Amino acid sequence: MTQHLAAPSTGTSDEAAGHRTGWWQDAVIYQVYPRSFADGNGDGMGDLAGVRGRLPYLKELGVDAVWLSPFYASPQADAGYDVADYRAIDPMFGSLLDADALIRDAHDLGLRIIVDLVPNHSSDQHEWFKRALAEGPGSALRDRYHFRPGKGTDGELPPNDWESIFGGPAWTRTVNPDGTPGEWYLHLFAPEQPDFNWEHPAVADEFRSILRFWLDMGVDGFRVDVAHGLVKAEGLPDLGTHDQLKLLGNDVMPFFDQDGVHEIYRSWRTILDEYPGDRIAVAEAWTPTVERTANYVRPDEMHQAFNFQYLATAWDAAALREVIDTSLDAMRPVGAPTTWVLSNHDVTRHATRFANPAGLGTQIRTPGDRELGLRRARAASLLMLALPGSAYVYQGEELGLPDVTDLPDEARQDPSFFRADGQDGFRDGCRVPIPWTREGSSYGFGAGGSWLPQPTGWGELSVEAQTGAAGSTLELYRAAIAARRAHPGLGAGADVRWLEAPAGLLSFARPGFVCTVNTTGAPVRIPVQGTVLLSSAPVETDGDTVELPADTTVWWTV
Ligand code: GLC
Repeated sequence: MTQHLAAPSTGTSDEAAGHRTGWWQDAVIYQVYPRSFADGNGDGMGDLAGVRGRLPYLKELGVDAVWLSPFYASPQADAGYDVADYRAIDPMFGSLLDADALIRDAHDLGLRIIVDLVPNHSSDQHEWFKRALAEGPGSALRDRYHFRPGKGTDGELPPNDWESIFGGPAWTRTVNPDGTPGEWYLHLFAPEQPDFNWEHPAVADEFRSILRFWLDMGVDGFRVDVAHGLVKAEGLPDLGTHDQLKLLGNDVMPFFDQDGVHEIYRSWRTILDEYPGDRIAVAEAWTPTVERTANYVRPDEMHQAFNFQYLATAWDAAALREVIDTSLDAMRPVGAPTTWVLSNHDVTRHATRFANPAGLGTQIRTPGDRELGLRRARAASLLMLALPGSAYVYQGEELGLPDVTDLPDEARQDPSFFRADGQDGFRDGCRVPIPWTREGSSYGFGAGGSWLPQPTGWGELSVEAQTGAAGSTLELYRAAIAARRAHPGLGAGADVRWLEAPAGLLSFARPGFVCTVNTTGAPVRIPVQGTVLLSSAPVETDGDTVELPADTTVWWTV
């Protein structure tokens, strides 16, 4: 065996620095989007009974925890991210009894449950908001949201120039109880999602109570929706530009990533720490830099934050190396694990992103070269699972599912699709119910139909078709996650040691392992790095060298 590698890192910098450790440090966390995972009652919509029935599948996949997108009582204006009652389950998903049974069964299987918490906004059907509207201007309940008189001679203009992330103004004018035009209210997302005023003590008290409610139910943590949005700059100042989209993600905005949010998370941390068993919080925080993301996971705040910079990185060795380094560097001073994520319910699946030319962003409408996309996606997933820290897997990516890019407009349900010039818009394509069986109604999703049409050929990508099939994407994920379990060094620590590699390739050492990635479109011959443990495409060593096929990742034991 040719070994031209430097000694692998020990991966113990966390312990050495005296930082916290816990199950979540290197966990593989699987995102379930409940409406599209499994339908227990055959109404075409996924539900908690469906998830419960499929827990053994998740156990077998080998993940540590399951994060469930919202299942709370909601008019579903934004697929449940518009919550009307934070302590109730929407009847379309089941009941609190179903949630209780799901949490218990998961724990019996050794799986942890993370629920989604949506604190930036409620539904416009939330009791507080309905009463605030009904009581009219001057209602004390209006102080729990951002109600303001309009500008212009008759208040006909919005109070400031902020725009909704989904497109259009971030303000909607109300109608007074007597039918006259009234004040405006702020909604950074859909008009059905009014933003809470987090300066109001009742809002903070309510969410501390909601946290306790779910912790008492036994959940292991929270994924905190729009964690960067809760606090708005004092006076709600104008942005001064109509090019808000350009600023988003590049700048601290008067409504995003304000320093005041951190006080909230410090207060939540004390609650989490009161409970036994390492309960965690994960920030969905879109910030301009990874360094600012690190602020959310300081030792007295949350435990993890999604690494969206990584998600948005093209399939390119140099760019990947840079984002891996900056991500690890940013988290090291705060002692938090880095997270890695390639897909979720808000972006085009990575098999389709990588099938298209780089630079198209994360909302893509063209299928691209599907074979290329799948090859790169498999390689990208194997790279992700070799990195130290915690990895997030979005339901269906373990099947190599592409985005459904040809959904007819009349089938679409994403609210941002219907509002012009929004940031998002094509999120339905990653939300199509997943295929479990080759044949049958909705390919085993449920006994009825499916709330978004599934493409023909979906059955060939099903769990049934891929289980036990040599070389299937599902078996690749199973093997990779099992290897992470069998060799805890693989996910541990906070360092990778880069090894020399030709242009377009990545090579790095982890304790006992080497990972090599060819991001180029052509095979490249390199020295054998050890014993092949796993590879995203077949590789054959030839004496001291090996030809790494195009777009392939190989794990070696050394
Ligand atoms: C988050 C969710 C997204 C939702 C938005 C508003 O970004 O992931 O699905 O639309 O928040 O709640």
